[in-house]
Amino acid sequence: MEYRNKLVLAPMVRVGTLPFRLLAAEYGADITYGEEIIDHKLVKCDRRFNEKLGSVDFVERGTGSVVFRTCDAEKNRVVFQIGTSNAVRALKAAEIVCKDVAAVDINMGCPKSFSVSGGMGAALLTKPDLIHDDTVELARRIEKTGVTALAVHGRKVEDRPRDPAKWREIADVVASLSIPVIANGDVFEYEDFQRIKVATGTSSVMVARGALWNASIFCPKGKLPWEDVKREYVRKSILWDNDIKSTKHTLREMITHHSSLELAEGKAVIKSESLIDIARLYGAENYEVVQN
Ligand SMILES: Cc1cc2nc3c(=O)[nH]c(=O)nc-3n(C[C@H](O)[C@H](O)[C@H](O)COP(=O)(O)O)c2cc1C
Repeated sequence: MEYRNKLVLAPMVRVGTLPFRLLAAEYGADITYGEEIIDHKLVKCDRRFNEKLGSVDFVERGTGSVVFRTCDAEKNRVVFQIGTSNAVRALKAAEIVCKDVAAVDINMGCPKSFSVSGGMGAALLTKPDLIHDDTVELARRIEKTGVTALAVHGRKVEDRPRDPAKWREIADVVASLSIPVIANGDVFEYEDFQRIKVATGTSSVMVARGALWNASIFCPKGKLPWEDVKREYVRKSILWDNDIKSTKHTLREMITHHSSLELAEGKAVIKSESLIDIARLYGAENYEVVQN
């Protein structure tokens, strides 16, 4: 896959499942990341073609739960993100999905305690053999491992999401590497794509919260009303039999940002137990809820 000049949907836990990825792509995202999936989980999965949906499912043995669902339409743009603390296991996990996705990414940025205490995510940044207080040096070492691109979120582990992303520091990484760098942090409007490109000197940009709150951020013509985007997300969730927890979580995030969970809609989303409830709530009963 080519990583230059791309608009990228960032990895987002519980959000970046198939319907959300397809939504972002429809609005203009060139590359769409899936949510982080831990290698331990993926190595317990079997690949199955889902006849009813026309999807490829990675299903956990024993529980039968769908850990990752993808489809042909996104094969050339979906990135599978692995959470790992072990190279051998990460490779095993990558081998399971690699034929069905465009690329595999290793999460080296997540600061959440679940990731870090398991030696994953941002903990990889401080592995004894990788200790560098210089981000540029670390990026150079990562480049030397043979990766084809590097996405850099311009925050430190201890920074909060409301702290401004440091685009200048991303620029230092861009200037030091020859592989494509994907700049990430604080893109909330379509115009910000150009601003961060200029500030960092790279041509590819990744966006998380801006897309979560309104996936049409990728539209060059400007954002659509978030209510329309939400309805399309609900429709796609139903069509692809999305995990109800993922649909609820994503809707909750959208509603929290634009409205309030205290109002009737928010309360009804919280109470929903199935996609049928969600379909009823949004007047989408005419979409057949396909259940496996
Ligand atoms: C709801 C949510 C879930 C996230 N999940 C992941 C994840 O699974 N893997 C990851 O590497 N980063 C994850 N992140 C971090 C984002 O990918 C991104 O690096 C960060 O939010 C900064 O981008 P932004 O300023 O556009 O939000 C998540 C962020 C949010 C808001």
